[in-house]
Amino acid sequence: MRIVVYGQGYVGLVSAACLADWGNDVVGVEKQSGRVEMLRDGRTPFFEPGLDDIVTENLAAGRLRFSESVDQELEAADIVMIAVGTHDGHGGWQTQTILSCLYEVVPRMSAAATLVVRSTLPPSFVRNLSRLVADVRAQSSSPMIPVLINPEFTREGRAVHDFRSPDRIVLGVAHDPFERGLAQLRALYEPTHSPVVELAAIDASLSKLGANLFLATKISFANELAALCDLWGGDVDEVVAGMAHDARIGGQFLRAGIGFGGSCLPHQVSMTVQAACEAGVETPLLAATEQVNRHQRDVFVKHLVELSGGDVRGHRIALLGLTFKPNTDDLREAPSLTIADSLIRLGADVVAYDPMDRARYAATQIVPGLQVAPTLREALSGADAVGLITEWREFVQFDWSQAVDLMRGSVVVDGRNALDSRRLTAAGFTTRSFGRRIEPKTQEEPIVTPEQHAFSVGAASPSLAAGAVYARDTALEWEGTE
Ligand code: UDX
Repeated sequence: MRIVVYGQGYVGLVSAACLADWGNDVVGVEKQSGRVEMLRDGRTPFFEPGLDDIVTENLAAGRLRFSESVDQELEAADIVMIAVGTHDGHGGWQTQTILSCLYEVVPRMSAAATLVVRSTLPPSFVRNLSRLVADVRAQSSSPMIPVLINPEFTREGRAVHDFRSPDRIVLGVAHDPFERGLAQLRALYEPTHSPVVELAAIDASLSKLGANLFLATKISFANELAALCDLWGGDVDEVVAGMAHDARIGGQFLRAGIGFGGSCLPHQVSMTVQAACEAGVETPLLAATEQVNRHQRDVFVKHLVELSGGDVRGHRIALLGLTFKPNTDDLREAPSLTIADSLIRLGADVVAYDPMDRARYAATQIVPGLQVAPTLREALSGADAVGLITEWREFVQFDWSQAVDLMRGSVVVDGRNALDSRRLTAAGFTTRSFGRRIEPKTQEEPIVTPEQHAFSVGAASPSLAAGAVYARDTALEWEGTE
């Protein structure tokens, strides 16, 4: 099929590259200056495992091209996909870009083509989409075309895998009286062999929203469960392992820590709470999801301050990881930024290291006073305390016994429950994470209270085997690209 994809951000570029890889003839359109030149050279503007190779191979094969504007390709396209951004960068929506795009593209599409919107849209926009397209077509005396929305569920760091093998394809029909658009999209996605769910456009859009809200709520639930584990001497990893065997619950997205960041989850929760509130609808569950998420960052800072003797002024604190999760260089809504800022305001000397050069540079532009180190060792060097922010493989597989000699202090706060606290303690660190049990050193000693939280585990986890399902399901995302 001949496909034109507008917007070459995460969603558009991954879609364009993977569709070309299936043998389609694809043109990716991008207006941001400099981006098209980069893409033509086979360089992607963000880090996404596997994507560079797919772009390079399909450019070479002539199936994928990039342009700042298209004429004949647009008129000849079977499918036109819109994947332009709809975030305003401050937690709100902006629909100006997609409106300009639709006004430019819709009048020029062939009567045989289908319009597919992949951008995440405000529900009110979805409800008006078909009428908007009909008006624009009527103004140019062109017959109406099928209009569908096709929300994406791809995770950064696993986007290629998720595009090729999604759990489901959701198609939302805004206008398609003869199912011509549906037939085209069913054929387009045949290589995935994934179930196709066909819905009304508003339901498709809300199913994307619902999925993200539910995932966010699961994470905040796990974080509140972790607080209860701290209170009652439980271990959240073990508790979740016990729950995960229940097929109704599952084990994914129940990893406690500093909470969710990224371009999607925080934005969708806060926008929904705000939009519902403006309409007079109460959403206390979602408001709590957001509140718990923000609170986790404060808890992390509190752990660092407490273990540093109640005052971090003049302390060198190494933050490991800046990106909102591993395998991406994305800093959008990354917890690292607010955490670094809070620690700097408390007088700490904060040095961060992240394996992604781009993230290191960008973070210094966002957080005043933040220093970055070019290597993990340099970040650890002379540090009084360490805070793990992102569970990059490099940090989890690091031989922490080596850090003892590099660091001045011995505090490690694990914001992702990703480090082996038993090993850390054996190496001489004082460590704290979220809702993980601090077992008594001997059988005789009483179970510790949350206040006594800063010492470590004695024996190997007895229910490690029971945790296998949980461990597999939550398998730290870096394992993730197939
Ligand atoms: C999310 C959705 O998962 C995806 O379906 C949608 O299309 C886009 O938004 P993404 O933003 O790439 O994907 O990241 P995701 O893997 O969902 O993680 C979001 C945040 O939650 C990260 O900061 C991650 O560290 C955190 N998280 C995830 C947890 O804190 N605990 C978990 O158990 C899982």
